[in-house]
Amino acid sequence: MIIILIGPPGVGKGTQAKMLSGRIQVPQVSTGDILREAVKEKSPLGLEAKDYMDRGKLVPDEIIMKFLEERLKKPDCAKGCILDGFPRNISQVHALEKLLGRRHKDTIRMLAFEVSEVELLKRLSGRRVCKKCGSMYHIIFDPPVNDGLCNKCGGELYQRDDDKEDVIRARMEVYRKDTEPIIDYYEKSGVLRRINAEGTVDQVFGRVEEALR
Ligand code: AP5
Repeated sequence: MIIILIGPPGVGKGTQAKMLSGRIQVPQVSTGDILREAVKEKSPLGLEAKDYMDRGKLVPDEIIMKFLEERLKKPDCAKGCILDGFPRNISQVHALEKLLGRRHKDTIRMLAFEVSEVELLKRLSGRRVCKKCGSMYHIIFDPPVNDGLCNKCGGELYQRDDDKEDVIRARMEVYRKDTEPIIDYYEKSGVLRRINAEGTVDQVFGRVEEALR
């Protein structure tokens, strides 16, 4: 089964994808994480992607599809995966369908997360990520035990470059223009469930489990 998590920047897709992955033992495939890893490694495609990410724009489909195809070929994705942050426009929807062929096409489920814009801004501006292990925190909702340090590995916490106010605005705009229309597409195929993403992480996870039952 392919479970697609969709929703605006900061709604909690990554948080829920990790919890769901642990619960159903299917890997989380986050195109954002894959890109950040490539940027960290300074690979040529990663460096090309960085310029788009820093401006809050979508990275070109050709680059995304190269990374995604490579990731989906790995054995842990044989029985499916949780797609977090992909597809993000109609051409990526078609590229995914082509890539999956008949394999998983009939077992796609999409969960669309919805939250107020005020809450999104709170979640994004308070997010902190561990430089070493990638664990995620929030300075108010989920603060680390020691200020600025990861609970799991002691690594330094940082704020993502694209969590600055002007880039957040650009990402929201791209979401409304390019990504939101694909929710209609999946709704028409009857595989979409909308998730109220207000409330605590556990409350939202309860709704995710309910939607997939
Ligand atoms: P990506 O990394 O995918 O960013 P995004 O979609 O904007 O989503 P975020 O990671 O910002 O948020 P999230 O919804 O995962 O929330 P999270 O769980 O972290 O993409 C980054 C960039 O890469 C894009 O702008 C683009 O340039 C490029 N890119 C990626 N995929 C692409 C693609 N397919 N095509 C083209 N370009 C692509 O939570 C946020 C914070 O809130 C955290 O601090 C968390 O602790 C907290 N939180 C979560 N849930 C709750 C809750 N219920 N209550 C309180 N706090 C909560």
